[in-house]
Amino acid sequence: MGIMDGKKGIVFGIANERSYAWYITQSLIQQGAECGFCHLPGDKMQRRVVKAVEELGVSDPWLAPCDASRDEDLDAVFAKIAEDYGQIDFIVHSIAFADRQYLEKGNFHTTTRAAWNQALDISAYTLLAMAQRAVSVMPDGGSLISMSYYGGEKVIPGYNVMGIAKAALEHTTRYLAAELGEKDIRVNSISGGPLRTLAAMAVGGISEMFDYQAAKAPMKRNITGEEVGDTAAFLLSDMSSGVTGEIIYVDAGFNVMGL
Ligand SMILES: NC(=O)c1ccc[n+]([C@@H]2O[C@H](COP(=O)([O-])OP(=O)(O)OC[C@H]3O[C@@H](n4cnc5c(N)ncnc54)[C@H](O)[C@@H]3O)[C@@H](O)[C@H]2O)c1
Repeated sequence: MGIMDGKKGIVFGIANERSYAWYITQSLIQQGAECGFCHLPGDKMQRRVVKAVEELGVSDPWLAPCDASRDEDLDAVFAKIAEDYGQIDFIVHSIAFADRQYLEKGNFHTTTRAAWNQALDISAYTLLAMAQRAVSVMPDGGSLISMSYYGGEKVIPGYNVMGIAKAALEHTTRYLAAELGEKDIRVNSISGGPLRTLAAMAVGGISEMFDYQAAKAPMKRNITGEEVGDTAAFLLSDMSSGVTGEIIYVDAGFNVMGL
């Protein structure tokens, strides 16, 4: 018996077997969930996701291409969800993007309007875009999660415009939770510690973040993908039925330290 037995949902954000979304999927499957996957358009991206989920024992997965910055892609994905599944129980939003040119220490102030808009669109607005479409495929309620980072609250040099996007993502989580709660749709976010993924490697000074986290966090270490995956499964399950609008830290306690 798993806490996700009988639940179906869609995962956005597996690039490879190091992605946060991959670890989340691993925990969801271990807990009994059935997952479908959205990937950036293109055969190469599709092959990467198929290979990554094969490692989790998933063969012939439900797949849909989606550039989440395009409304027409999202419309097509949710139409396919309605057609193939009828209704779903959860959505994992584990996507983000910012032009790495602006993710270097000291150059936040050089961010262009276009780079700002793109980062906030792909990394924050897309949660709202998914939630507004999720309402029609979650008639019996559901649970959505996204992935945030402490750089959305405090200045982490190099995280730059992505920090602004995470601040927007976290507050979008609260506003969505407030409006969708009466439909029994819950919206939460996980503020995860640094993990060596493709996206993380685009952030200037990422190595220092790992060292600093391990030195300063109460648990004196970095976190694992599995720890985020298990918290995600909890938030997407009925075990967290009274929890919405929250930012849950999975950071070995790093955020509680003042010095
Ligand atoms: N790795 C970390 O240290 C860390 C820490 C906290 C939060 N996060 C967050 O976790 C989430 C997942 O990132 P990750 O670290 O697993 O890296 P990742 O590179 O493995 O995943 C990022 C995903 O975003 C997808 N993506 C980018 N632009 C997209 C678009 N326009 N449409 C659809 N998908 C798009 C990519 O295809 C990729 O699958 C992100 O929100 C990231 O900010 C990461």
